[in-house]
Amino acid sequence: MRHRLTPDEAAGAFALAKACAEAYPNAHDEGFLADAPVLAHDLPPSVRRAANAARLDDRKHAFVVSGNTVEPWLEPTPAFWRDADTVASGPYGFLLVLYAALLGDPIGWRTQQDGRIVTDGLPVRGLEHSLVSASSERELGWHTEDAFSENRADHVGLFCLRDRGDIPTTLSCADPASLPQDVVRVLAQKRFTIHPDPSHSTPADTRHGREKVALLSGPGDAPVLRIDRDFTVADEDDPEAVRAMKAHIDTVLLQRWFVLFFIDHGTRRVHIAGITRHPTGPWITQQARNYLMDLGDHAESIKFLIRDRGAYFTDSFDAVFEAIGAHVLPTLPRVPRMNAIAERWIGSCRREATDRILITGERHLRLVIDEYAKHYNQHRPHQSLGQQAPDRLTEPGPPTATDHTRVLRLDRLGGLIHEYTQVA
Ligand SMILES: [Fe+2]
Repeated sequence: MRHRLTPDEAAGAFALAKACAEAYPNAHDEGFLADAPVLAHDLPPSVRRAANAARLDDRKHAFVVSGNTVEPWLEPTPAFWRDADTVASGPYGFLLVLYAALLGDPIGWRTQQDGRIVTDGLPVRGLEHSLVSASSERELGWHTEDAFSENRADHVGLFCLRDRGDIPTTLSCADPASLPQDVVRVLAQKRFTIHPDPSHSTPADTRHGREKVALLSGPGDAPVLRIDRDFTVADEDDPEAVRAMKAHIDTVLLQRWFVLFFIDHGTRRVHIAGITRHPTGPWITQQARNYLMDLGDHAESIKFLIRDRGAYFTDSFDAVFEAIGAHVLPTLPRVPRMNAIAERWIGSCRREATDRILITGERHLRLVIDEYAKHYNQHRPHQSLGQQAPDRLTEPGPPTATDHTRVLRLDRLGGLIHEYTQVA
């Protein structure tokens, strides 16, 4: 459910938030929290109407208000959340609480960021690999916010203040309706434990998390999923529950996609052949034929093909390559090093692209993978190629930089990857 503010409405809402920031010390001030539901009546009627419709509709689990005013003169991103209450960023916290007050009573956790209602998600030195919003290197798994607790909130409010690369906000929904009935039955029973994440450090708030809970609840046609991928476990002596989690939460709700790619050992050039959720023998064979067709005369230069031992590689797949005189070498079981160059590509693609983006579906994945392959082939320096990119092996290297050399930056994947080129 999305509501787009007109510029006038956005200015009105922001003016209200600024007035609140002048009247109250901070957005978690008790006086402000008591007044917020009343003050929210001064928000533009259109957003109040949309929020109220969202509040009444159990089927819609997200409500987006876009078009908000974000002033350009924000201070630099602070190094720690305790330093994040600044004059310029203050009004946004108030605005978030005002929007939240249209949906319910805003709450915060005593155990998180000194009990603030509005907490700051910003990268913190030393927490790069943690599983909280201060991390910057680690992929954060899907989770219901504070899934471990019965007292968790119905909604989580998020406000993005700085988006230098204009990276689009992605909204996606897990669809428990796609699960088989017997799995739904297991997930709806109290057979799982969700441990508190480490940001909750006080025992009083972590006593939940020891009781067994159900992961699915609510009406059958609009189920509510309660899960935190990194902290949810099923008892080892309950194989049905373990299976329901592993086989279905991980691969159906958090869908698993297969990407078929070929990489040329000589040039390290990668070719994305296809993407599917269900790799089958005929599908993969057809992709191999298409690949050779794309290569045209170059196909004959292929002498060997190393592939893994996936069941989807059938004899007919091998036959496609054998027909052009290539030897097919399946890797030995559990020896990924036999296909080190392909494995390296998978690692790089994950680290630099797919692990950093919430992929919403096939088209999105295709876009991300294609863009990354382009970066890999055309720009990314390869040590084994003398710091050249596969597509630029015959190009002369850049001239020596002088005082007049300018550097041009090209952003890929909405700014996730930067490419730099010298221009004289
Ligand atoms: Fe979270």
